[in-house]
Amino acid sequence: MEAPNTPDPTDRQVSRQTVLRAALAVGVGVALPVGLVSATPALARTASATPPLTPMCDDGDDPTPPQMEGPYFTPNSPQRTSLVEPGMPGTRLTITGFVFGLSCQPLANVLLDFWQCDAGGIYDNTGYRLRGHQFTNAQGAYSLSTIVPGLYPGRTRHVHVKVQAPGRPILTTQLYFPGEPGNGSDPIYDPRLLMTVRTVGDARAAEFDYVLNVPGSTDPPGDGTWAEGTSYAAGDRVTYAGRDYVCLQAHTALPGWEPPSAPALWRAA
Ligand SMILES: [Fe+2]
Repeated sequence: MEAPNTPDPTDRQVSRQTVLRAALAVGVGVALPVGLVSATPALARTASATPPLTPMCDDGDDPTPPQMEGPYFTPNSPQRTSLVEPGMPGTRLTITGFVFGLSCQPLANVLLDFWQCDAGGIYDNTGYRLRGHQFTNAQGAYSLSTIVPGLYPGRTRHVHVKVQAPGRPILTTQLYFPGEPGNGSDPIYDPRLLMTVRTVGDARAAEFDYVLNVPGSTDPPGDGTWAEGTSYAAGDRVTYAGRDYVCLQAHTALPGWEPPSAPALWRAA
């Protein structure tokens, strides 16, 4: 594992979530399409582009808001990370991000079931075109390859998704695109569900992180003293120099990665 990223403490725009994203991005094993992988670190990408109203996991009480399912959900979608089919018209779009719990802990094996209309605003209600589900990896990351959905009467541009951590209730919600003329007139639109969207060549690269109503570790604080060589999992709690900390991502402790000096790995409890 590479050394954790250290944020610039003078950058007030760097949130805990952004720092965590940057650290997680180091180890993300999600395959991204060639041409859509930016050389810019996640830290720099998200520090200036994250919509201010998007719920942050450091708030501790702001899960991603639910939205109506609408009339076009079809159960039992195929498991796949790309909804793009040969010859499918539309602007290519990737949606990437992480799923966190209330304590900022990345959540693995979370089901994400996406569905959307095609570039012409039409849903496939007889098959599974532009429908698919996947699961977050060990770092809580997901990546979807699709196309920018079209428009249909009464709605602004959006993507539907159901998100479910193992053994937890389903969050049904929708994701939105910034700068859409229809955002202001769609009564369902919620700016807290805006994705960050960049143009990459002829394609779009969007990011959105979910915060689910999943509590962190229920272990009592201070159940162990931080020690080099110990393997920690997200949600583990330790004490160091008399303070309690919660592990943000799985790692094996190395010298120099003590909680106060590794904010990407530990947060104060
Ligand atoms: Fe829809």
